[in-house]
Amino acid sequence: MAASAALSKVSVGCFHSTVLPRQELGAGIAQNHLCHDRSPIFSPRAKVNALLAPPHFERSSYLGVGTVEEALPLLKPVRKRCQRTCQAAAQPVAPSTQDFRNKQPKDINVLVVGPTGYIGKFVTKELIKRGYNVIAVAREKAGIGGKQGQDQTKTEFAGGDVRFGNATEAESLEKAVNGDRVDVVVSCLASRTGGKKDSWLIDYQATKNSLDVGRKQGAQHFVLLSAICVQKPLLEFQKAKLKLEEELQNTEGLTWSIVRPTAFFKSLGGQVESVKSGGPYVMFGDGKLCACKPISEADLASYIADCVVKPELANRVLPIGGPGKALTPAEQGEMLFRIVGRNPRFIKVPIQLMDGIIGFLDLLSKAFPALEDGVEFGKIGRYYAAESMLVLDSKTGKYDEDATPSYGKDTLEAFFEKCVREGMAGQELGDQAVF
Ligand SMILES: NC(=O)c1ccc[n+]([C@@H]2O[C@H](COP(=O)([O-])OP(=O)(O)OC[C@H]3O[C@@H](n4cnc5c(N)ncnc54)[C@H](OP(=O)(O)O)[C@@H]3O)[C@@H](O)[C@H]2O)c1
Repeated sequence: MAASAALSKVSVGCFHSTVLPRQELGAGIAQNHLCHDRSPIFSPRAKVNALLAPPHFERSSYLGVGTVEEALPLLKPVRKRCQRTCQAAAQPVAPSTQDFRNKQPKDINVLVVGPTGYIGKFVTKELIKRGYNVIAVAREKAGIGGKQGQDQTKTEFAGGDVRFGNATEAESLEKAVNGDRVDVVVSCLASRTGGKKDSWLIDYQATKNSLDVGRKQGAQHFVLLSAICVQKPLLEFQKAKLKLEEELQNTEGLTWSIVRPTAFFKSLGGQVESVKSGGPYVMFGDGKLCACKPISEADLASYIADCVVKPELANRVLPIGGPGKALTPAEQGEMLFRIVGRNPRFIKVPIQLMDGIIGFLDLLSKAFPALEDGVEFGKIGRYYAAESMLVLDSKTGKYDEDATPSYGKDTLEAFFEKCVREGMAGQELGDQAVF
């Protein structure tokens, strides 16, 4: 009856994903466990022979009072409701001695945090497609401007187990995980603004919370969506990401994959509409100050999903770009003009102009701290105008196209063609307009 004693400590009546012998299930139910919503769950008329139950019953969430005979037919239907409403303390899961990589995808529980972002969406769907048991923890109001409601998120991730919570608060995340076993955590969390405080709150703290909660629930592997630009950290969000990367690498008893992508398509599509409607292409310097090997959401999602089980991608920092050669802004502009069938027309902005504006704002922010994030956004813009999103050779201090691995099949050219044809839906930048 040790298990029953443990159950009584749970006290608010949610049993979570551990296997409980049938007789103990009865004992647990007899202890009058209640759910916070206090809904009547067990019909007094329910007549079910307990012997029909499997010898071990998965302690899915259940609530209410009654006998095991009354409970059994009702346990499954209430599971989902309980997951939404129960606030029971999560039960830590003892570290497994079995390597999750030896299991079938359907038996591997993957916790995804940041599932509603530009990359997170594709990652979550890809993991569901590959048959993993995906637990996606999203905010109740998600997406750009918080416009995506719970129903939309659930519909979007049909086939996954969508739960709601906020990763910035460890307790909230823990409640959403609800005591379930986690084998792998995949984090696609990122500050939506890139502001100083927000970066530390999300890129560091929320991600750290997901590491801690994942560990507590038995996680053996952590896949982190980071960014190639952290190799030259001048910005606050890069410093926050690096700190997390470092702590992740120093976490004992856990393998990790740190994915550092180059540029996303959305970050390069900002001038499609204006060029299409006759405008010039604006670039800094001679348009050759920086270059990147852009990668699509789908290709990156596929690579991140590979990181979940492939042992050769574990315990590695993984810079990753899309297919083809590195492209400068000038080359991207030429490509765009070619696609819309116009003669190229460029506006070249001296990078020093940005330096002047940032310097001025920096001075002002000393007197008006509210301007601090404005300065940071200026610095972010300046960074991406001058730094390549390619592997940085630490010896030469130069960016190296050949050392930057390529993955996938989607090209920027095909992306531009699609955007010119169909518009930019799905490529909105939201608060990251400066990225
Ligand atoms: N843009 C590029 O070219 C590029 C290149 C390489 C790497 N990266 C890196 O890739 C990463 C992901 O980028 P992305 O564009 O997919 O990000 P995104 O679209 O902004 O998504 C961010 C995710 O984090 C969640 N999040 C943000 N603030 C939160 C908060 N306060 N509480 C809880 N959750 C929060 C969002 O949830 P909600 O939906 O609820 O807001 C969303 O799921 C970033 O780390 C970025 O640095 C970007």
